[in-house]
Amino acid sequence: MKMGNSSFVAIALLMSVVVLCNGGKTSSYVRKLIQNPVDMPLDSDAFAIPPGYNAPQQVHITQGDHVGQAMIISWVTVDEPGSNEVIYWSNSSLQNFTAEGEVFTYTYYNYTSGFIHHTNITNLEFNTTYFYVVGIGNTTRQFWFTTPPEVGIDVPYTFGIIGDLGQTFDSNTTLTHYQNSNGSTLLYVGDLSYADDYPYHDNVRWDTWGRFTERSAAYQPWIWTAGNHEIDFDLQIGETQSFKPFSNRYHTPYESSQRTSTLQYKWLTTELPKIDRTETSWLIVLMHAPWYNSYYSHYMEGEPMRVVFESLFIKYKVDVVFAGHVHAYERSERVSNDKYNITNGICTPVKDISAPVYITNGDGGNQEGLSINMTQPQPSYSAYREASFGHGTLEIKNRTHAFYSWNRNQDGYAVEADKLWLFNRYWNPLDDSTTNIP
Ligand SMILES: [Fe+2]
Repeated sequence: MKMGNSSFVAIALLMSVVVLCNGGKTSSYVRKLIQNPVDMPLDSDAFAIPPGYNAPQQVHITQGDHVGQAMIISWVTVDEPGSNEVIYWSNSSLQNFTAEGEVFTYTYYNYTSGFIHHTNITNLEFNTTYFYVVGIGNTTRQFWFTTPPEVGIDVPYTFGIIGDLGQTFDSNTTLTHYQNSNGSTLLYVGDLSYADDYPYHDNVRWDTWGRFTERSAAYQPWIWTAGNHEIDFDLQIGETQSFKPFSNRYHTPYESSQRTSTLQYKWLTTELPKIDRTETSWLIVLMHAPWYNSYYSHYMEGEPMRVVFESLFIKYKVDVVFAGHVHAYERSERVSNDKYNITNGICTPVKDISAPVYITNGDGGNQEGLSINMTQPQPSYSAYREASFGHGTLEIKNRTHAFYSWNRNQDGYAVEADKLWLFNRYWNPLDDSTTNIP
């Protein structure tokens, strides 16, 4: 159940390569609401501030080590720093434990953050429900989570996938639908609050996003990927430290996983060989900008990264790659394009059952609206594409099979619009394509 998760950021480069083949399905579903989504107002119930002096808000958790026996508990207090302590206990024991973390603050232009607490609680039992309390000494709030099962080759587990969520009424629908799924951990593929769409990147919208997502993120780990909307680099207002709000608010477990902070390529080339597929059967990669994208929006932006990394994904038998960035849904067949060397003209992706399936879940519902313009005809690598909001779920069944489904936000309820069985590339490397491609 270990996850190869990584924080990739798009590098924009346009190349005039067009693939002209007839491929999979372009959904004819037309969403009723065609106007751009709007952010929920500041006084929306979704952003309600919990009552009480110095009450913890924006509570969220993420996996705190490599295997799932630790959890980073994060929250914000606004009146005073208050305690960094988390008190926790399991449902099978009456013994309380206490862990203490650290508090962070930052300024961004004319904004000063609240007191952002991060406490990693460790030595947890697998597959166990824990209750935890934050706000010790002032107003306390209690939450719970369940740790993942012990790493094992045939252990079933269900992930959710959300990207580019933002904080609109549509975002609210997406999150509600996800909460009604059976996902136990959310894989978040980047672009969180969209605060940077506001004047001076109004960081109040980072706080509202934290309160909005608490109803899920306080109860199950959200695994983070950074997107371009997390960069928050703005010379005009003197903000030159990239990822400042994101890195203060959303910690990741790279230290407690004995990971090193290195350049991405170096990190990945040392990380991939460590994954023992006889122990960890599924290899999932998260990134922000997709490599296989047939929408006009962000077309070919992932190309510089693909030419560097794609052969690694094939060599190490990555099963599935989730991305966001493009505000729509798309799923590829198993294809590769790693023979292309810029000058040899071999620039068309070809069927390759050693390659991952690439899925774009940039459809969370943010205020920038849907990416509706698609390249025509649909390229052969594209198995299914639809310009609707929604979320994905990946149900790992055993070492050989996982079931993926994409759930469209249709008329107020989740509709399963695309689904397929994925065969594991290490244990069951058979052809699982859903369309005929040359
Ligand atoms: Fe993006």
